[in-house]
Amino acid sequence: MLVAANWKMNCTKAEAKTLVSGLKSAVSGKNEVVLCPPFTILSIISDEIAGSKLKIGAQNCHYEEKGAFTGEISPKMLKDIGVSYVIIGHSERRAGNNETNELVNKKSAAAIASGLIPIICIGETGEERKAGKTKDVILSQIAGSLPEGSSYVIAYEPVWAIGTGVTPTSKEIEEAMALINSKKPGIKILYGGSVTDSNCEEISKISNVSGFLVGGASLDVAKFSKIMNV
Ligand code: PGA
Repeated sequence: MLVAANWKMNCTKAEAKTLVSGLKSAVSGKNEVVLCPPFTILSIISDEIAGSKLKIGAQNCHYEEKGAFTGEISPKMLKDIGVSYVIIGHSERRAGNNETNELVNKKSAAAIASGLIPIICIGETGEERKAGKTKDVILSQIAGSLPEGSSYVIAYEPVWAIGTGVTPTSKEIEEAMALINSKKPGIKILYGGSVTDSNCEEISKISNVSGFLVGGASLDVAKFSKIMNV
């Protein structure tokens, strides 16, 4: 399994150091574990995890290698500080930063070209699910967001399950996973959306679930320790 921690816009240096030191002593090595802190502390966390079983990821990147893109960070810069993974097209960025499938695809291709593994997020909103459009949305995100080749990971995150404490039923997760797997066999698919220490075991057993993308619970040493070692 691959378990990725999406810290989102959280953690000062001091908070992050406390969190990482707890996780370093708890990580069992059973799963691949990737911490995705905000840009400001990426380099610090990269140094902190050196020699441990933890890896590091970023939460976004630009598609160009360098240049006049104020406020942006390139895949090459991430690679330079020891980053291995990068989350691309998280629903918060799709909604809040107007990230389209096309842009997600472009960023993911650029990340791969720089030697990073993109974790590409897809998933329907609550409204889309209620309107019976889940399958269509997932298929169009697969068609539009995923780059050539197979050097990436997909995160299925139903938007209505993110940060809400509400998760789909096992059957709903299984159906979405089967659909994604039918289009992209052999690609790892993570589940994300209100994963906690109490539901991780059950979700890990669902067919085609290859790991998790965890938000809120990844900021708590005890909760995330259980999830990352599931
Ligand atoms: P959550 O977030 O675990 O807090 O629901 C998941 C995510 O946004 O990746």
